[in-house]
Amino acid sequence: MLRLNAISLLQFRNYLQREFRFTERIVGICGSNGAGKTNLLDAIYYLSFSKSYLGRSDSQNVHHGSAGMRLEGTYELDGEPQQLSCVLRENNRKELTLNGSEYKKFSDHIGRLPAVMIAPDDVILISGGSEERRKFLDTLLSQLNKTYLHWLIDYNKLLLQRNSLLKRAAEYGQLDEALLQVLNDQLLEKGNSIFRERKQFLTAFLARTGEIYRNIAGKDDGLSLAYDSQLLHGDFSAQLRGSRQKDLQLQRTTVGIHRDDLQFLMDMVPFKSEASQGQRKSLLFALKLAEWETLREKKGFSPILLLDDVFEKLDEQRMFQLLNRVCSETDAQVFITDTHEERLRKQLEDLGAGFQIVELTINN
Ligand SMILES: Nc1ncnc2c1ncn2[C@@H]1O[C@H](COP(=O)(O)OP(=O)(O)O)[C@@H](O)[C@H]1O
Ligand SMILES: [Mg+2]
Repeated sequence: MLRLNAISLLQFRNYLQREFRFTERIVGICGSNGAGKTNLLDAIYYLSFSKSYLGRSDSQNVHHGSAGMRLEGTYELDGEPQQLSCVLRENNRKELTLNGSEYKKFSDHIGRLPAVMIAPDDVILISGGSEERRKFLDTLLSQLNKTYLHWLIDYNKLLLQRNSLLKRAAEYGQLDEALLQVLNDQLLEKGNSIFRERKQFLTAFLARTGEIYRNIAGKDDGLSLAYDSQLLHGDFSAQLRGSRQKDLQLQRTTVGIHRDDLQFLMDMVPFKSEASQGQRKSLLFALKLAEWETLREKKGFSPILLLDDVFEKLDEQRMFQLLNRVCSETDAQVFITDTHEERLRKQLEDLGAGFQIVELTINN
């Protein structure tokens, strides 16, 4: 079981110096716009990932006019206290320390104190380009399997090399056949490994996502979710050979797992062109909750769940289903923000689990 019992923020965004104690498993955070609700969730996320969820650079994270910042979290993991601190020095050097010992590589920390954030802008996962969905998939698979991350890094490097070889061939009118062969062989090896991993993982993951969607939405909506890859339609090696002329002409690699996507359909038409705002949100939550549940299974405890402004644009019934699934049926710690204290209080009371409300005012 994972718990964040307290967090202290020094010169982080709008917080000059502030400490919060979390005494209940479910924490409602309310306050008007600009009060610092999202910033507080992002501080919690930051401690888990050593970077901002919002993709802000560290210079934007430091309180305006200050130099450096510090975040400190007091956790409990399976009964053991864990003290984590993240310091950004005035010279911009970042230090991450767990129980007194400093990490040499931040990547060693990822997954130690896991957290999943669900925020309004995440609908880009549904409505944005395929790179958003590959990023989501890769981030999740990398947390589950370190080898996958290495395959991916190698594949992307090889792809760059192959593309620049194709460009040079067009420029000089001469192709280094031997080098192309070497790059092809390696690309095939890494690409096939990634493909197999994605395919196997997505079978269960997308089924689970569909099940959560039906649970939140209360109906099926003709939803169908599928892995979409050129490699599903034929052997990678044969396709790479077959696309040789096209690749030379276009000076880039036109087949491979870098073109993969997740296909979301509603009644056989693309989800993003048909679905209502509420349906998009439901699908987004389903994907994120499936991520959270998958991590829970793998870790053996629930990651911290950070829900930012999820009440907006989701009707009460869907909201209740969602909260019920995460708050009542698991022992997870959940942080949830809302601008309306009454609405938040009522939703949390209906769940019948213990909760606390943290009220933020502007000028913390
Ligand atoms: N680096 C910073 N220094 C000082 N204030 C900041 C910084 N970054 C963001 N803020 C302030 O934080 C406030 C936004 O907080 P946020 O957590 O998004 O509010 P909420 O989610 O409650 O609407 C804004 O008013 C913004 O000006
Ligand atoms: Mg906010």
